[in-house]
Amino acid sequence: MAVRKPKVIVTRKLPDPVETRMRELFDAELNLDDTPMGPPELTAAVQRAEVLACTITDRVTADIINAAGPQLKLIANFGVGFDHIDVAAANARGITVTNTPGVLTEDTADLTMGLIMAASRRMIEGSTVTHAGGFHGWTPTWMLGRRLSGKRLGIVGMGRIGQALAKRAAAFGLSIHYHNRKPVSPRIAEDLQATYWESLDQMLARMDIVSVNCPHTPGTYHLLSARRLKLLQPHAILVNTARGEIIDEAALSGMLERGELAAVGLDVYEHEPVINPKLLKLPNAVLLPHMSSATIESRIDMGEKVIINIRTWMDGHKPPDRVIPGML
Ligand code: DGY
Repeated sequence: MAVRKPKVIVTRKLPDPVETRMRELFDAELNLDDTPMGPPELTAAVQRAEVLACTITDRVTADIINAAGPQLKLIANFGVGFDHIDVAAANARGITVTNTPGVLTEDTADLTMGLIMAASRRMIEGSTVTHAGGFHGWTPTWMLGRRLSGKRLGIVGMGRIGQALAKRAAAFGLSIHYHNRKPVSPRIAEDLQATYWESLDQMLARMDIVSVNCPHTPGTYHLLSARRLKLLQPHAILVNTARGEIIDEAALSGMLERGELAAVGLDVYEHEPVINPKLLKLPNAVLLPHMSSATIESRIDMGEKVIINIRTWMDGHKPPDRVIPGML
């Protein structure tokens, strides 16, 4: 007997192996030209789909969820962050929401470490000058950055990615400090040789480098507010591979412009994809286009997680990566 294939609407182009597998397993409607969906397209999709396979670029608001037909049962997000989905509204309508945790941890930590190095050692500035023909020979005082070894790194959010970053940073000779809602287990703290700061303010004021690695929730919106950013030392470097909304980007840009901070390394922005124009002009702002999980391996693994979540739901079980409001 042929197995009934659920209607799965995929909102963005996914890696070929993921799309092929989805076509084999589901009645999958793909977005081959990758045109992002706005509210009208998403509304039309939730009126037909049993599963919406969306990504972090889709704003799946309460209005969209409330416009869904009764057949919509699962929102299977391709991405770990789910701050773009109104999970409470979905759950209120009996719609399950899933994400893709774990599989992009190592790649995100790699890129965060890369941003720390690029910002401290002025790597992008050096490359830009060299491409422009500006390298006229070595000099003792040109392109001086700051050494990593022996400095203090403060990690805001010691979840999977924060811990993976801590391991890498320790290998570079950085001492590890962190702020989290609660301390990590004694075993992890010992492994990482990490110092816990209950007070974020206290930690920020003492660090040479700060990395934001917590999720964006109502509680972490502008966690690094204008007041808190002012606590950073003028030689400090701030990196963010989590979510732009966690930092007051306007306040940060002003500080960087006034020389109140040494450098930033950003992969995410408060009003993505729009970036504060001040940042775009500053050579000490290393700016990446939200690419921390952009390896072919991560993106295929993320797709496989989406598929596992959908198949588990098809089989009548609870998908492994269910998210619930307030779980973070
Ligand atoms: C996520 O998954 O939330 C990342 O920001 C994008 O890969």
